Amino acid sequence: MTKMDETRKSIDELVDSMTLEEQVSLLSGEDFWSLPAIERLNVGKLRVTDGPNGARGGGGLLGGVKSACFPVGIALGATWNAELLAEIGEALAAEAKSKGAHMLLAPTVNIQRSVTNGRNFECYSEDPVLTAELACAYVRGLQSRGISATVKHFAGNESEIERATMSSVIDERTLREVYLVPFERAVRKAGAMGVMTAYNRLNGTYASEHSWLISDVLRGEWGFEGLVMSDWFGSHSTAETVNAGLDLEMPGPARDRGARLVAAVEAGEVSRETVRARVRAILAVMERTGARRDRRAHQESANDRPEHRALIRRAGAEGMVLLKNNDILPLGSGRRIAVIGPNARTAQIMGGGSSQLNPHYRVSPWEGLAFALGEDALSYAAGCGNSRFAPLLQSALQVEYFANRTLSGEVVHVETMDAAEAFWLGEVAQGKVADDNFSARLQAEFLPEKAGIYRIGIISAGLSRVYVDGAIVADAWNGWARGRTFFEEGCDEVVGEIALEAGKPVEIIIEFAAKDHAVLRFAAFRLGIGLPLGNDAIAEAADAAARADVAVVFVGRNGEWDTEGSDLPDIGLPGRQDELVSAVARANKNTVVVLQTGGPVEMPWSGEVAGIIQAWYPGQETGNAIADVLLGKSEPGGRLPQTFPARWSDNPAYSQDPRVYPGAGGEVEYREGLFVGYRHYDRHGIVPLFPFGFGLSYTEFALENLLVDAARFDVDGSVTVSLDVRNTGARSGSTVVQLYVAPEGSSVARPEKELKAFAKVGLEAGETRRLILRLDARDFAYFDVRNQTWVVTPGAYRLRVGTDSATIVIEGRVERASRIEMKP
Ligand code: BGC
Repeated sequence: MTKMDETRKSIDELVDSMTLEEQVSLLSGEDFWSLPAIERLNVGKLRVTDGPNGARGGGGLLGGVKSACFPVGIALGATWNAELLAEIGEALAAEAKSKGAHMLLAPTVNIQRSVTNGRNFECYSEDPVLTAELACAYVRGLQSRGISATVKHFAGNESEIERATMSSVIDERTLREVYLVPFERAVRKAGAMGVMTAYNRLNGTYASEHSWLISDVLRGEWGFEGLVMSDWFGSHSTAETVNAGLDLEMPGPARDRGARLVAAVEAGEVSRETVRARVRAILAVMERTGARRDRRAHQESANDRPEHRALIRRAGAEGMVLLKNNDILPLGSGRRIAVIGPNARTAQIMGGGSSQLNPHYRVSPWEGLAFALGEDALSYAAGCGNSRFAPLLQSALQVEYFANRTLSGEVVHVETMDAAEAFWLGEVAQGKVADDNFSARLQAEFLPEKAGIYRIGIISAGLSRVYVDGAIVADAWNGWARGRTFFEEGCDEVVGEIALEAGKPVEIIIEFAAKDHAVLRFAAFRLGIGLPLGNDAIAEAADAAARADVAVVFVGRNGEWDTEGSDLPDIGLPGRQDELVSAVARANKNTVVVLQTGGPVEMPWSGEVAGIIQAWYPGQETGNAIADVLLGKSEPGGRLPQTFPARWSDNPAYSQDPRVYPGAGGEVEYREGLFVGYRHYDRHGIVPLFPFGFGLSYTEFALENLLVDAARFDVDGSVTVSLDVRNTGARSGSTVVQLYVAPEGSSVARPEKELKAFAKVGLEAGETRRLILRLDARDFAYFDVRNQTWVVTPGAYRLRVGTDSATIVIEGRVERASRIEMKP
């Protein structure tokens, strides 16, 4: 008997020894992040943690034990470096273990369909093959150290608008050729042990009860033997989800399972064998991750490791994309630098939502440059703000809890908070109130530094109102309405204004009451207060720029904008940042813009500045990694994993018809079909601001001597392409060689070209390397829906090799005489 057979047998025996109730107990969480143990049978608890840019642990979104914060998905997508992703996977396994977890809820492999998707930052790319290859490496790295991946969100979760109910309408060919590809490869090639279903419906059916998706495709065709779990509160039925193949309902305690599932079995709606199959899938992952025999008490620790610091710093620089360089970068030594902009002194290290964590530390760009050059070389001006909400009130709060929603009766619990935000998930007030039936009065003092008209803004999942010195200034209680905050459980910001005097403290009271939730069960609020920067701030920034040799402007967004639970309103830089960049560029021609966003932005000033770097959200080492690239200690290793359109309306998901985006009547139609990302720009001849795959280096490369070996093309559809990559510049650096397959004429609609292979190559000055890229039959195939097969049609295919989707440097051609058909 092989080891695998033995394990199967032992799992079968274990399942047989369980009562139906015990079996069913394993099919729901016990709490937010774990499954119940079965003491009688010595079965431990399976524990999970978010994901994907770190391992947060169980402490909630805001506090919690500290963790290493890695670059976000799009920043890793921009590295185009599978080996690096594997290293990061390995490091994340250590992080997950430090939080006592066996499964990481990652990676996110949804496709960047729309530029305004709130989770664009968390996903790798607009391209399925780039996404898939990076995901495979991440999964392999993670699982090689005994932690299970949970590839998410399966499938069609490409927007955050009404995500809990929206139906993504996607035709099967598009699903097969685009949206399912990363999941398919993560399962088939990398052996991913876990999959999380999406919140949304797919063509009308909830992903969590989609038996075609889970049972036919994932298990049947791809041979998946791992665990399928719901997204949090994303399962809505008993028999339907279990019969469709959803193993685990999350989080716990059981909602639609538990006693209800036992009853459904007894009523014959779910067979005992189906329950056993679900349990076996969960136990298989528990076995492989060691959770089955893990009897340790749950413990979390913060391990701030030097090797993780170094890896994060290197990975950050490897994802930074140099978009423009008029001989200004890297910055020479001995120059006086004006450090300008809202993201200069605030380290924007991650996006918002469930991927958030409590980082070990955050290095801002200002700090990174100051560590490298000393503060004397730098001057500073904020210029303007870019936050979505008023700045968080950071002072101590006294909190009184009431065991009702009306702030009445006795105070049952008192505690303090150190900032005016809370995310009440699970136990509230040490369990003295029910999590959905409580209210709280929070009191703080605010000391204005300057006189002026302050903005006070509150958002809340629950009712809230704010008083300053007894007068109500912001009311999100009467007339509270659901908006785009707190995963669509919160209201849009309610803002009030009040004149305050410098140095005169005021008392702030916040009243909060829990309310019924729509989908996600939690309560939350956040209060901000601040004095908006006026016209003078932009003038001061221009002055600082004029007095320096170089101005570096740090603009972009932050995790309030790039966040789960809310799409962006547009892709302009928020606030007055465009104005700021232009003013600084007028004052100093040596202006470099460092952008930090989770996706494309319009850049009306791109012709006015000397340099542009896209730095994304690169994790806790943000400022150091940015300084490394600015100063030339590191190569800007990134290439765009997503097309940057000149304007939002050029994007494939942009339409006057809301059914295309953001959806109408509960449906969002992926009407562009296969033509997502560069496939769309190619098709319509739209010139983007910066094409997919684009990025400059500090050196130059030549791609030469292409050789196509098609000896086996007519046999099994495989082709080998080789070429020389030569660093023709004066310093070491890296380039990304991209191979696009372009069918020459076809009876079915095909994109003009599609990325099918790529490699990142690092070379010393003058060095040449022979690079080999391999293609197989699937790389030439389309999916024939009617016959349910992958088809390679006879004919010619161009093999186009370049450094971005618009810059093809060299190409070859292959021809096939006969047709290939392959089972999915
Ligand atoms: C997200 C998942 C996440 C889960 C647990 C959901 O809101 O969509 O990606 O893993 O919460 O935090």
